[in-house]
Amino acid sequence: MKYFIANWKANKNIEEANEWLTIFLSKYTGIKSNEITVIIAPPYPLLPIIKNKISMYPNILLASQDVSVYPTGSFTGEVPASTLAELANFVILGHNERRQYFHEDTDIINKKLSAAVQNGIAPILCIRDDKDFIHDDAFCVVYEPVSAIGTGNNESVDKIIEIRNRLKLLPGPKFIYGGSVDAKNVRPYLKTGEIDGFLIGKASLDPISFYQIVEAAL
Ligand code: PGA
Repeated sequence: MKYFIANWKANKNIEEANEWLTIFLSKYTGIKSNEITVIIAPPYPLLPIIKNKISMYPNILLASQDVSVYPTGSFTGEVPASTLAELANFVILGHNERRQYFHEDTDIINKKLSAAVQNGIAPILCIRDDKDFIHDDAFCVVYEPVSAIGTGNNESVDKIIEIRNRLKLLPGPKFIYGGSVDAKNVRPYLKTGEIDGFLIGKASLDPISFYQIVEAAL
């Protein structure tokens, strides 16, 4: 199984999300493979809209980009895992942008991860290198070197495999790579057979570019 995770970050409004879905789904409808899972990670308000539109596609799932450390209750502005459980199958945690701009450390990430797991949401755990903590309950580990995120400097295949070997994950979580993945550079990654999927930022914003990345795995 190969996982293709579209991390939209803080992009797209309702109209743009609908447009993206119309184009992507019109192409994706032709895909028969059971070896591909597409995961869309939009901003919170778009989750229910997308959920409705993908209900006919068993291999397209949803991820939240965050979750609260708090449960339901008086925590203005927070979105607890129990609310997200109805909408998202996965949650992205530990992304460098959360660590950098929102000062999330291992303790916060682990609390969020536990809240997600308790509510049946599978954690997609991002790490920057082999020193970041990996919680046993992570569904997958995403190696995202900071130098590769949004820069066009995608990491070499050799370095990614080296990190994978150092993490000694087997037979634990799946191993995903993220950082400037696009339709032009994805094939060598797929060829190794050692990378279980990709977390895709910029190239996922355009439905055709994203589809072309998915198509490379067919
Ligand atoms: P990028 O983002 O594909 O634009 O490098 C990846 C990510 O931050 O998840």
